[in-house]
Amino acid sequence: MKILSKPDYESLIASTRDARMDWWRDARFGMFIHFGLYSQYGHHEWAMTQENFPIEEYEKLANEFNPKPGAPREWAALAKAAGMKYMVLTSRHHEGFSLWDSKANPYNSVNYGPRRDIVREFVDACREYDLRIGFYTSLMDWHHPDAWKCAYDNEARRRFLDYIEALNTELLTNYGKIDILWYDVSLPMDHWEGWDSVARNQRLRALQPDIIINNRSRLDEDFGTPEEGIHAESRDWEACMTFNGLSWGYLDSEQVVPYSYNVQRIIRMLNSVAGGGGNLLLNIGPAPDGSVPKEAIKPLTDTGRWLAENGEALYGKGRGTIGTNGLCSGTVRGNIVYVWNWIWPKNGSMSLGGYRTKLKKASYLATGETIDFEQTTGRIILKNLPAEVPDKTAGITMLKLEFDEPPKQIFATYFPQLHGGREIDTVRD
Ligand code: GLC
Repeated sequence: MKILSKPDYESLIASTRDARMDWWRDARFGMFIHFGLYSQYGHHEWAMTQENFPIEEYEKLANEFNPKPGAPREWAALAKAAGMKYMVLTSRHHEGFSLWDSKANPYNSVNYGPRRDIVREFVDACREYDLRIGFYTSLMDWHHPDAWKCAYDNEARRRFLDYIEALNTELLTNYGKIDILWYDVSLPMDHWEGWDSVARNQRLRALQPDIIINNRSRLDEDFGTPEEGIHAESRDWEACMTFNGLSWGYLDSEQVVPYSYNVQRIIRMLNSVAGGGGNLLLNIGPAPDGSVPKEAIKPLTDTGRWLAENGEALYGKGRGTIGTNGLCSGTVRGNIVYVWNWIWPKNGSMSLGGYRTKLKKASYLATGETIDFEQTTGRIILKNLPAEVPDKTAGITMLKLEFDEPPKQIFATYFPQLHGGREIDTVRD
């Protein structure tokens, strides 16, 4: 295969990006699954190095590892119920243990522990639940003897790169159509040339022409991956978030509950990705037996129930935010503003300042029921609202405001009433 130079490779993948990423840009919400030997141990997915385990001692976890058959179906069922559209599984995390029947890596779940191909079960479950499929693959490896030597020993680097490529070739050859390749931690080399990423990614793409690749092989590739924070980027981006701010791998469910997200916090994150035009890849760390962690079940199923009624504000392309009144957030798509009501005004009316575009219709997103309103210069007043919060799932009621054209908002900097009839020209967008 003829290997293109970096600029040629990058312009080629840029030319196919819109088509390849069409589904992903609509999807908005996916599930990250961190599952491996660290789940068995239950301390943190970095435990092997953070607790400085001797390799032989850590390897014992591989024999004890015994997820129940069908666990990936539980993950997929929960992802589906949550309104997620895709899943990304840690096929092999930094600990170096492969969750599939690998020829390149004998340290795997078919030779040890469950003696089953967990990746196969995962892929089957995704297909059963109609979820797109992603493989996380670590470049850093704490188990492989060449991994750290790569930095100074070129022979070791060559062997290790062959190893990485062989692993990913298996994953992208033996499991049918795969949608995402999600690289992580490109250490010890600190440049794409050291990782030979331009050539390897071209060869891997040849196996899965529609695949989407993230930015963690020291190349920009298809999308950015802000971690543990939802920060919009000017390109395609996907924020990956733990469920508790502590660990990607399983932690004792009882103890982690107070640190874990509830449905409101998850919807807040979805609001940020909707406004910023990105995706949310929300993690769960399954328990040692592979079951979904208890603390995630209700928040995620409630999120799904809420999205079933209000998903229009999330799914699909587009980005934009607009100021509201501090009790809610506004996202914009074309002529429409979605109002995410965090705190419902119990006095029966809601005022939104600064709108200079004609409002045609206001309604509840969940039911379509219209809302009475008045519009004066620079102010919309929604009227006759119920005192009780309408949304019963999360207490977050969504309103849909349909304007004549893409809404413009002009705020007075201070006391608008002092400006009388004069045009106020402080524009915020
Ligand atoms: C970090 C961590 C890793 C986790 C990943 C997810 O880079 O090293 O444990 O898998 O983030 O984004």
